[in-house]
Amino acid sequence: MGCAISGLAAKSELSERNNTEDVVNVHLTEQQIHIIKDSWKVIRDDIAKVGIIMFVRLFETHPECKDVFFLFRGVEDLERLRTSRELRAHGLRVMSFIEKSVGRLDQLERLEALALELGKNHYHYNAPPKYYSYVGAEFIGAVQPILKERWTADVEDAWKTMFQFVTGLMTQGYQEECALQRSLSLSPKDRAAKNNAL
Ligand code: HEM
Repeated sequence: MGCAISGLAAKSELSERNNTEDVVNVHLTEQQIHIIKDSWKVIRDDIAKVGIIMFVRLFETHPECKDVFFLFRGVEDLERLRTSRELRAHGLRVMSFIEKSVGRLDQLERLEALALELGKNHYHYNAPPKYYSYVGAEFIGAVQPILKERWTADVEDAWKTMFQFVTGLMTQGYQEECALQRSLSLSPKDRAAKNNAL
């Protein structure tokens, strides 16, 4: 699970770090928080359905994401996944996280802690940040038909911003865990040399 072993990895790490810097510029307005909470009241009635649609769409548009999941890696027939108990359970885990995030929109520091921790976990799931932005796009595609005439450009903007906020923090958590694991894997000699260089 390397993060900066090859030149290629170092390059992707750099672009991930740029994403992290972007999080500083992501700001949810009071109005957007209101819109998210309000639309969530409708979306949450279909939480299991949205979770499944979101992941089937993700695997259709970005098949490389499927390989990250041990359970879905070999599955070619995506239609079969729509009725899979495992995908339903996974979708529900992700949607429950979104529910928790919506509940923390008035305490952003608690949401930050939650998303940072999730990013650290994703380092261990071998799911790198370059894939995170796809999930927000598929969530929007899945909830738009549910919200029907309630869907507006402002609703779309509010959810996009919320996903940018969360995935920016997940990226930061992933990077922190990556750096920690890298320093733990250094030999005592390399660690001493690194500390001397600081
Ligand atoms: C907005 C983006 C995402 C969110 C909010 C999210 C959320 C979650 C949550 C809540 C879990 C349950 C375990 C835990 O809490 O640590 C999880 C597990 C996992 N996620 Fe994500 N995830 C996102 C993106 C991705 C992407 C893009 C991939 C792969 C390409 C991925 C791969 C995994 C894997 C492999 C697991 C562990 C297996 C499992 O729980 O079924 N995640 N994710």
